[in-house]
Amino acid sequence: MKILFYMPLTDAATWLHDLARALPDADLREWQPGDRAPADFAVVWRPPREMLAGRDTLRAIFNLGAGVDAILALEREQPGTLPRNVPLIRLEDTGMGAQMAEYVTHAVLRYLRCFDEYDAQQRERRWKALEPHPRATFTVGVLGLGVLGTQVARTLASFGLPVRGYSRGAKQIDGVTTFAGEARFDAFLDGAKVLVNLLPYTPDTAGVLNARTFARLARGAYLVNVARGAHLVDTDLLAALASGQLAAATLDVFHEEPLPADHPFWREPRITITPHTSALTLREESVAQVASKIGALLRGEPVSGVVRAERGY
Ligand code: NAP
Ligand code: GLV
Repeated sequence: MKILFYMPLTDAATWLHDLARALPDADLREWQPGDRAPADFAVVWRPPREMLAGRDTLRAIFNLGAGVDAILALEREQPGTLPRNVPLIRLEDTGMGAQMAEYVTHAVLRYLRCFDEYDAQQRERRWKALEPHPRATFTVGVLGLGVLGTQVARTLASFGLPVRGYSRGAKQIDGVTTFAGEARFDAFLDGAKVLVNLLPYTPDTAGVLNARTFARLARGAYLVNVARGAHLVDTDLLAALASGQLAAATLDVFHEEPLPADHPFWREPRITITPHTSALTLREESVAQVASKIGALLRGEPVSGVVRAERGY
């Protein structure tokens, strides 16, 4: 069994070493430009077109991330990038759920408990207890109730916060009020105090974090975007902060990454910026999942995480 690997800006040798340990019978190689030799599986992150184009005999392509928007965009821009009829399989959790739960919980509790205000007071050596946010109305809405959104919603609910969740299909999650489908979108948003975005980026979800969406939230609401930068209309966020409709935002993802040095977000103190690190691809967990799914496919068993290109995730 031959496996092609491609993951730019990473220590490919360590990945190949770990994959070889998990799949001792595999013949593994890092893809290099010009390599057209046969392969059975590809394990990739943002591959160039020439790596996969025409490889119709691949048994599966593994995407080394949860989101497949980049690889599907490549296919839209340069048709034929992804060989037809070869399943594209994304990472499912692989330790990202726990990271997301930590990141989002940190942001939400920071806003709930007024840590930004206390930071400002500390800089002025001011000792003053602030009126706490009433927990009963500190409603958190989680957009996307998939592998990651579900874990985030459950974790937030464990703090006794009112939590809502939004997805395409109906879901039942203990402690979470769920809303499904476009017709329920406004009801999901109405009066929420924090909006957390964990939707995949697709043609249906592009720009979902916009002025109309913000206007339905409680006045002085908070935004946490950990999905994709293109979900957000940047100018609408700045306007909502300026008007007080939004009080603050935590952003991990941006239209352009790295965020350009002259982007206005850097100058807005109410925006917290992290460099796309809310949930990293963890090597050990990812290698174990890919190896286990390759084993299942070789035995002719079905695997989960297969992307439905027509849905975009
Ligand atoms: P997932 O399991 O595929 O879940 C996606 C969720 O979004 C599902 O609940 C789905 O509804 C819902 N959804 C999709 N399109 C929708 C629409 N048009 N309207 C309403 N709901 C819709 O994905 P995941 O593993 O949780 O990951 C989510 C995203 O997080 C990824 O796509 C990626 O962009 C982002 N991410 C970011 C980082 C980071 O470091 N910042 C790390 C990992 C992932 P159904 O359940 O009904 O299908
Ligand atoms: C990271 O953003 C991912 O999609 O895994």
